[in-house]
Amino acid sequence: MKHLNSVIEKYVELTPRSREIWESAKQYLPGGDSRNSIFWDPYPIYIKSARGPIVTDVDDMQRVDFINTMTTMILGHAFSPVMDAVSSQLKNGVAYNAPNSHQIQLAKILCERVPSFDRVRFTNSGTEATMNTIRAARAFTGRTLFAKAEGGYHGTHDAVSVSVKVKVEHAGGSDSPVALPSTEGLPDEVLDQVIVFPFNDVEGARKILEQHKDQLAAVIIEPVLGSVGMVPATYEFLEMLRNFTWQHSIVLIFDEVISYRVTDGGSQKFFGVTPDMTSLGKIIGGGFPIGAFGGRKDIMDLYDPTGGLEMGKEPSVGPHVSHAGTFNANPVTMLAGSVTLDHLTDDIYESLAFNTEILRQGIRDVCAELEIPVQVTGIGSLFGIHFNDVPINNYRDIASSDTNIRRKVFLGLMNEGILIAPNLVGSLSTEIGSNEIKMFVEKFKLVLSKSGI
Ligand SMILES: Cc1ncc(COP(=O)(O)O)c(C=O)c1O
Repeated sequence: MKHLNSVIEKYVELTPRSREIWESAKQYLPGGDSRNSIFWDPYPIYIKSARGPIVTDVDDMQRVDFINTMTTMILGHAFSPVMDAVSSQLKNGVAYNAPNSHQIQLAKILCERVPSFDRVRFTNSGTEATMNTIRAARAFTGRTLFAKAEGGYHGTHDAVSVSVKVKVEHAGGSDSPVALPSTEGLPDEVLDQVIVFPFNDVEGARKILEQHKDQLAAVIIEPVLGSVGMVPATYEFLEMLRNFTWQHSIVLIFDEVISYRVTDGGSQKFFGVTPDMTSLGKIIGGGFPIGAFGGRKDIMDLYDPTGGLEMGKEPSVGPHVSHAGTFNANPVTMLAGSVTLDHLTDDIYESLAFNTEILRQGIRDVCAELEIPVQVTGIGSLFGIHFNDVPINNYRDIASSDTNIRRKVFLGLMNEGILIAPNLVGSLSTEIGSNEIKMFVEKFKLVLSKSGI
């Protein structure tokens, strides 16, 4: 506790202007912001600008960004080609009441790269994307239930706000997790529609899915459990889900809002397992609000408003699934997204993965030297740090982590000029090179040495 208090004291010393802004923000915004996932105790920093690998807060302190807007800014902040393209689009307006052609370019790139995409549609968030995958699966199968992994985060809509972060003591056995609300305000029926299964437990999950196989519209899964710790699924687990859903005509959905970072075709290309539908977000908008969902043509055709309309003939039925949104596929986001993806070549993915592995190993080496147990998770450019002595395979392995240690390390790194997520997950951008990685490892060692762990 003594060490934690001194870390907090230093944080408060370094961030007086953020504290002042936070105090006044609370008069208008509950908690002083609009995004609970970036609140941390005692208060968050307010950012004034960001460029390349650096974010600068309102106290003029610079930090190297190792989280990159919860994995979004894969090319770093204010990447010139994206900024230039957006600036030129701004002169032509930002949103129209008719389609724009930038979305076709982004759709083409995604359909060419993502193995499961025959067709794609755009939204303004990953939340809307996962909502649509589940809705489409229900419409396609005529069934209502869907299954998700314990600890899986799929955004903020009701259906998926179940068993995300739960108190393990209330959540049943590890091989038979109970569906628990992740927020107040959910109707009871929501819980009745979700089957929860353990992540990375092939037999345990199969047994649970088997009991509901005839009522399941979909199984939704993050191939890398993101917000709870960058924990990759095993190939065997994904393969089981693919075979099981195929056999029982259940729609398999990969939520790749985070894991699309792993290769140009997402983690589905990395694992060689192709789902029926996929939701995307974050990196594909170049820093602007976005989500996308796509998949098999026969499922995505449910969204076609022409319903097979032929010019000059009576319109037939369609769409079967409604999908609107004032800012969907707005030209600014679409252009920012396609310019970003144009820069994400195979070489870039390889070097991101290479650098991230150097960082992971650096973290392991520091902990080995200081004799602190650690598990460093993640694939591609994603990483998670867990001060555990057993391998991390699922939510429950993480739930037992000591939150005080996490706080000490997170705030300690903040004080030393490094920004990651409060639960010690991060992701690299192309702006992070060997100097920044070296700095992270040195600062990490310094923070741990002073932490009293
Ligand atoms: C795996 C996953 N799915 C969905 C979402 C929701 O995306 P958004 O925050 O854009 O609504 C997130 C956000 O972090 C996510 O990590």
